Amino acid sequence: MKKVLSGLSVFTLVGLAFGLDAGAALTACDVTKYDIANGEAVYAKSCKMCHDTGIMKAPKTGIKADWTTRLGQGMDILIKKSNEGYTDVGNMPAKGGNTALTDAEVANAVAYMVKQIL
Ligand code: HEC
Repeated sequence: MKKVLSGLSVFTLVGLAFGLDAGAALTACDVTKYDIANGEAVYAKSCKMCHDTGIMKAPKTGIKADWTTRLGQGMDILIKKSNEGYTDVGNMPAKGGNTALTDAEVANAVAYMVKQIL
C-alpha cells in the first residue's frame, strides 16, 4: 500500500510540474502583435511542406507535444532561429529556404504556427 501511495504522489508531482511548465511556456508566447493572416499565407507558401508533415524532425504545426519545450524560449528566440536557420536535431533552413521573405513575414508565420497550439 505504501508503495502504491508513493507511486501516486510521484505521478501527481510530475503531472503538476508538466502543467506548470506548459503554462509558463505559453505565457512566453504572446502572438497578439503579429499579423496572423499574413503569417498563414507565408506558412502555406514556405513552411507548410515541412511543418505539416514533420519531415526531417520538424515540429508539426498543431501538435502541442512537438512544441511544449520549444515555446519556453519565447517568441523572440523562436523568430530569430527561424530567420537565421539552425540545426539542433534537424535542419531548419534560414527563412524556411525562402530568402525573399522579410524578417517580419517570417515572424508572422512563426506567430501563426504558435497560435495553432495556444
Ligand atoms: C525544409 C524543411 C523546413 C521548412 C521549409 C521550414 N522549416 Fe521550420 N523547422 C524545420 C526543422 C527540421 C526544424 C527543427 C530543427 C531542429 O530543432 O533542429 C524546424 C524548426 C522550426 C521552429 C522551431 C524553432 C525552435 O527554436 O524550436 C520554428 C518556429 C520554425 N521551424 C518556423 C518555420 C517557419 C516560419 C518556416 C517558413 C518560413 C519554416 N519553419 C520552414 C524544417 C523546416
